This record gives sequence, C-alpha cells and structure tokens, in this order.
Amino acid sequence: MKDVDKNNISVPALANNGIPRHIAIIMDGNGRWATKRFLPRVAGHAKGVKTVRKVVEACIDRGVDYLTLFAFSSENWRRPADEVSVLMQLFRLALGREVKKMHSNNIRLKVIGDLSKFDAELQAMVRNSEEKTANNTGLTVTICANYGGQWDIVQACNKVLADKDHVGNVTEELIAKNLSMAYAPEPDLMVRTGGESRISNFLLWQMAYSEFYFTDTFWPDFGEKALDAAIASYQNRERRFGQTSAQVTDANCVRG
Ligand code: IPE
Ligand code: IPE
Ligand code: MG
Repeated sequence: MKDVDKNNISVPALANNGIPRHIAIIMDGNGRWATKRFLPRVAGHAKGVKTVRKVVEACIDRGVDYLTLFAFSSENWRRPADEVSVLMQLFRLALGREVKKMHSNNIRLKVIGDLSKFDAELQAMVRNSEEKTANNTGLTVTICANYGGQWDIVQACNKVLADKDHVGNVTEELIAKNLSMAYAPEPDLMVRTGGESRISNFLLWQMAYSEFYFTDTFWPDFGEKALDAAIASYQNRERRFGQTSAQVTDANCVRG
C-alpha cells in the first residue's frame, strides 16, 4: 500500500504489520562461542548451521519475505586452510540435507557470491538446489558464499560494460539491476551477531538505507527470541530516507 506524495516519494502505511520484508544477517561469533566452551572453532560453525534452521523457520512464521545470510566472505579465505575446508564441508552437507526440506516448505533458495572459486561438485549442487526451488513462492533464502559487497558492485559494472547495446555512462539504476541480488528489495533490517559493529564487506550497495541492529549474542545462541528483539528494535525506528520527520507519517516509509 503506497501513497505517493507530491515529490514522488513513496510513503506506505506500516507495511506487513511492521515485519521487515527483507532481513539480512551477518552470522558472526561462531568461533568465540566455541572457544568459550573449550571446543574447537568448527564446533561453533556446526552449531551455527542449526541456528540457520531455527531462524529460517522463525522468518516463515513471522511473514518475512527475504532472508539473506552471510555465510562466507571473500576475505574468509584468509583463515587457516583446515577451518576453510570444514566450512566448505558444512556448506556441502547443509545443501545436501536441507534442500529437500526447504523445497517442501516452499522456500526459494539462492546463493550469491563468486562461486567460481568453489569446486565443480559444490557449484553443481548450488545450481541444482536453486533450480529445484526456483518456482517456490514462500520465503526467499539467500546464502552469501564467497561474497563481498565490493566484488558485487564491480561485477555489476562489468556486466553493464560487457553489454554491446549499452551506450553512455553507468547509472545507479544499471548497477542496481545487475547486482547479484537484483531479484530482492533492499534489506530493511541488517542484523549482526557476535558483538562487532562493522559491515565486513557485506551488502554495501543494497544497505544504503537499511536499519542496523548489532547484538553481542553469538550466532549459535541466536534464535526466535533474539530475532524478535531485533524486529522490535526495527519497529521503533523512523525510516526517513532523507525526508524530515514531519514528512514521514508512518514509521516505515520506503525509499522512493
Ligand atoms: C562467523 O563466525 C562465521 C564465519 C565467518 C564463517 P566466526 O568464525 O567469524 O566467529 P568469530 O568471530 O571468530 O567468533
Ligand atoms: C563476517 O564475519 C563474515 C561472515 C559472517 C560470513 P567475519 O568474522 O569474517 O568478519 P571480521 O573479519 O571480524 O570483520
Ligand atoms: Mg567473526
């Protein structure tokens, strides 16, 4: 429901009962969660996969349309080789185990990032999972794997430049259209667990107007209640998109 004001900026009524349409999460703190318990870091990653399952279910229950999860950044290759290898293995296992269930829950699965760095088998698993769930109409879950916000902007520009029909300058619209998550609206709410207050090269372009929520809770300890606390914080924000408070009649106007 949108009312368009005379400056052509969309100011909708509180959409979707105040539930963010798109939540993006930096799932951080797995290693520290494990270390605190005298466990190997990878035990934290394994527990983190279980949290993903819980949060996906909670998002479905709450009517969220898009959930985007930062699983492996383009900088995470800098970690010790054995940790990287376990992370790849967990990704493979999770894809193998969860996709059938996701499909039966009407979830559309997407994976974004520079997948060319993954082995051929994993790339094929990703493609098959995306194809299997492509026509599902429920929650869209996007996994960011070997993803970097800077990489995304550069690949979008390169796509524009490679288009033989393209003439003239690169524009904001053209970049937005060629980003790897162009199928989704921009995130309304960005959550980072694990206590750090930084973006770590996540969705740089798409988070221009996202509301940020940082929590000390480590990702393996995150769950339904913690998600509700993040959503409650979001619901108390006034999204102004450059307008004044007086211009914004509802708490959740959208970017025009
Ligand atoms: C997030 O947890 C998972 C990935 C980055 C793959 P971390 O592994 O970064 O956990 P901390 O930050 O070291 O606690
Ligand atoms: C960000 O976490 C990436 C993911 C959660 C996948 P990091 O733990 O890699 O971030 P930094 O290195 O602390 O910034
Ligand atoms: Mg970390």
